Amino acid sequence: MATLGDLPQKLQEDLDLRHSKFPAAYPQFNPLDTYRVYLAENLSSITGLEAKTIYPLLQRTQTLDNGDLLLPVPALQIKSEKPEILAARWAEQFPESDLVNKPTSDGQFIRFFFNPPHLLRNVIPPILRNPKWGHNPLLGLKNADNPSQGCKRVVIEFSSPNIAKPFHQGHLRSTIIGSFLSNLYEGAGWDVVRLNYLGDWGKQYGLLALGFKTFGDEKALEEDPIQHLYQIYVKVNRLLTEEREKIKTLEAANDDASNKEATALKNEGLDAQARQYFKAMCDADPETIKMWKRFRELSIERYKKSYARLNIHFDQYMGESMGAMIVDFTKHVPGKSGKSLGKALVRKQDGTSLYLTRDIGALFDREKLFNFDKMIYVVASDQEVHLNQLFRIIELTGNDDLRSRISHVNFGLVLGMSTRRGTVVFLDDVLRDVGESMHEVMKKNEGKYAQVVDPESTADILGISSVMVQDMSGKRVNNYHFNIETMTSFEGDTGPYLQYSHARLCSIFSKAGIPLSELESSADLSLLTEPHAINLIRIVAQFPDVILNTLKTQEPSTVLTYLFRLTHALNSSYDVLRVMGSEKELMKARLALYTAVRAVLKNGMQVLGLTPVDRM
Ligand code: ARG
Repeated sequence: MATLGDLPQKLQEDLDLRHSKFPAAYPQFNPLDTYRVYLAENLSSITGLEAKTIYPLLQRTQTLDNGDLLLPVPALQIKSEKPEILAARWAEQFPESDLVNKPTSDGQFIRFFFNPPHLLRNVIPPILRNPKWGHNPLLGLKNADNPSQGCKRVVIEFSSPNIAKPFHQGHLRSTIIGSFLSNLYEGAGWDVVRLNYLGDWGKQYGLLALGFKTFGDEKALEEDPIQHLYQIYVKVNRLLTEEREKIKTLEAANDDASNKEATALKNEGLDAQARQYFKAMCDADPETIKMWKRFRELSIERYKKSYARLNIHFDQYMGESMGAMIVDFTKHVPGKSGKSLGKALVRKQDGTSLYLTRDIGALFDREKLFNFDKMIYVVASDQEVHLNQLFRIIELTGNDDLRSRISHVNFGLVLGMSTRRGTVVFLDDVLRDVGESMHEVMKKNEGKYAQVVDPESTADILGISSVMVQDMSGKRVNNYHFNIETMTSFEGDTGPYLQYSHARLCSIFSKAGIPLSELESSADLSLLTEPHAINLIRIVAQFPDVILNTLKTQEPSTVLTYLFRLTHALNSSYDVLRVMGSEKELMKARLALYTAVRAVLKNGMQVLGLTPVDRM
């Protein structure tokens, strides 16, 4: 092992790319890894254990009082002595250096605190140089030892509304979470395919088309297809309910005439017609297909506008209509018998398909089309059984490889979501309501309001942030109550609070008027000595590790909780770490620190799908 004096120098040389000895260490992207490598090497020579055994056990802490990294000694599974005794002895033996302070033992843990001057130098300059700091684009490589093999591909299926039915809270959550996951994987260097699997097939389509024949209006359809199709959906479903009630009443009467009428209704009524219509679609009847295509295309155009408002795009619009319901036995059964089995269509007796069979077909299509390394279904928990059935079927086909590449990211319900226009939720209505509320909130501060260039669109962005942050605050599986009042407040852990924190940093910069290049070349970081400054940079340093952990948890709240920790520390620092009125060199050092905080805040917000505003 290197001596203390030359280790930092050696680290720099070793770690130009991934650390050769520790495949999971990326010190150039994650400052914590610099220290992990150093600690693992040193602990190895003290304990006689292998450094690579120790390395993965060095954990980031949740509260700064607990240190920056800690080692839970029991995890090393040494039987000969008590962990408390080992922890105390090893902490005592561990040398102080310019990377870390002398560690402390605390029961079974050894706590390490980074040396502040080293930390500042290790964290701030890379952030100033790299606007994307926090993401590690090497994680998506197929083979980190051979980057020329390219990167892995993930298909993320999300949003997936049903064209003939309302866009409901579940679709909104899927949209928010799916977009977040897409950003997360993209940041990690994966090739991301954003896929929208439209509910564009099924009997409800037949029903809608029939409804259009009676209630449809060409002009209304062109103007707002989703709204118009929804009105038809409501009307025609009302008729269907009436029909069902009538059948029930007739059957209850149970006399000859009533029974006859009931049978006639069952065979020729709306429900039967819808089934026939859908059957005609399945048989590729040109007339019905033409109508269906039109509804579909107009709806997609309209959806695209709403998604754009949320800053989301899809690489692929596919749909249930496209999943051919085929089992290809030649692929799954070896040799002659497979060939003789050929390909079989799996569908209902009348030739129409089921939701589940469409999903099977879609999965095999996607596998062929995208050749993905991973596919994630972002779908509400209430479809858990459906997706488990799908996954089990894949297992039963013996395709373990494909099974290992697909997963379900689930989420709970949004309760009490309604708009001023009613309880059925249209994405645009929700965003409009929240944007308007936000506008009202902004108007209350007249002085500030006057300075915002385009208050309407700022209110719109803030409104969207409110909805998204509320959605991402808790664990995905939890239900939550939709509450416009709390989500649009500037107080508490809300979207506007994050936006405010970002905008305030931006305003400090514009007031100071010192260009980034000057900070980069000449800020003297050794002037940052206050505990507030040190604590801020300690939190900043954790960001890449938080992002890494989020790839495991797949929870937006992992990022969000972190961002609130950061902004709380930030907002309590302003009084101590003043920029305006400070002497020039100190001003530059503090601005460099705030630049780092701003970059992390911005990148964190962006990975969540928020659009950080500079002014509000
Ligand atoms: N369109 C479906 C619904 O709204 C969600 C689709 C989920 N994805 C899937 N591959 N089944 O319920």
